[in-house]
Amino acid sequence: MGVVEELHELRERALTDISSAQDTSALSDVRVAYLGKKGSLTGVLRGLGSLSAQERPTVGKTSNEVRRALEAALDSRKSELEATELQERMDAGALDVTLPGRRRAQGHQHLIQRITREIVEVFVGLGYTVAEGPEVEMEYYNFTALNHTPHHPARSASDTFYVRDRSEGAVVSATGQSDVLLRTHTSPVQIRTMEENDPPIYIIAPGRVYRRDIADPSHLPMFTQVEGIVVDENITFGDLKGTLDHVVQAIFGEGRRTRFRPHFFPFTEPSAEVDVSCGICDGAGCRFCQGTGWLEILGCGMVDPNVFGHAGVDTDRFNGFAFGMGVERIAALKYGIPDLRMLVEGDMRFLRQF
Ligand code: PHE
Repeated sequence: MGVVEELHELRERALTDISSAQDTSALSDVRVAYLGKKGSLTGVLRGLGSLSAQERPTVGKTSNEVRRALEAALDSRKSELEATELQERMDAGALDVTLPGRRRAQGHQHLIQRITREIVEVFVGLGYTVAEGPEVEMEYYNFTALNHTPHHPARSASDTFYVRDRSEGAVVSATGQSDVLLRTHTSPVQIRTMEENDPPIYIIAPGRVYRRDIADPSHLPMFTQVEGIVVDENITFGDLKGTLDHVVQAIFGEGRRTRFRPHFFPFTEPSAEVDVSCGICDGAGCRFCQGTGWLEILGCGMVDPNVFGHAGVDTDRFNGFAFGMGVERIAALKYGIPDLRMLVEGDMRFLRQF
């Protein structure tokens, strides 16, 4: 067989090998096998020297053609294989943009926090500012300055959580000796505010309070109150009523009415408990309001002069009112929650509703 035929045959073999190479590394082996230093085509070219002067040009021309043909075939197969391999790599690390995204659980305010803020907002709208006091409080602020008699039952260790008592050596503060306790209401903030600010005072004080109660449907040993106190000139019980009417309607809704019932608190005189008309029967009487048509929601009254005396307010010039409401109770009445304990159990099925 002549050299030219040999070259043609070599080209056919090479083209078959090129098209059957399955990846770029197999293809590069094929390139080396034919065009490399020790490759088949190179071998043929090396033999050129031994050819006759007649044959040499034809063989040289043919082998150049073959080389160009093979290079072209190698290049085109190479881009084919590279495209396939790129596609395979992309498929392997695939990102399916049509898949639905993963939703992150989003938290929200606890119902009690939300209602507390709503109440505070209503008062801020009336020009009140927010005050705070410690949850670990001195007996003086929690009871004595609020005109509780020395042996008032609320002071007893069966009603109040004491952090420290006189047997351990009571704390001596600017106001004298005092036991330390978990505040049983937010009213001590009244005293602290009056000690530090001159009238006019219009403040609201939200916060946690503690009582030595066993948790049941209507009691929690820890709950939330919003306290308010106003000290100014010529404040009347009418001002108190108008303020609370507005607030109750802002919280419960326009159509709701209030009822003030005489009551007693050591730190206000006169004092009242305030009821809101039942939202279920609108005052007619039903199971929710136990047939009365009314739901009790807060305590209030005109600040007792003895309290002003402790706090150093000039009673010839100033007077005022105070009130305190339980946020858990308001939440329960507003949303028909049958058991206050549900508010602190952390069951998401319940909490997610609000
Ligand atoms: N501190 C009272 C309570 O916890 C509520 C109250 C506050 C009443 C202010 C009158 C004035 O029951």
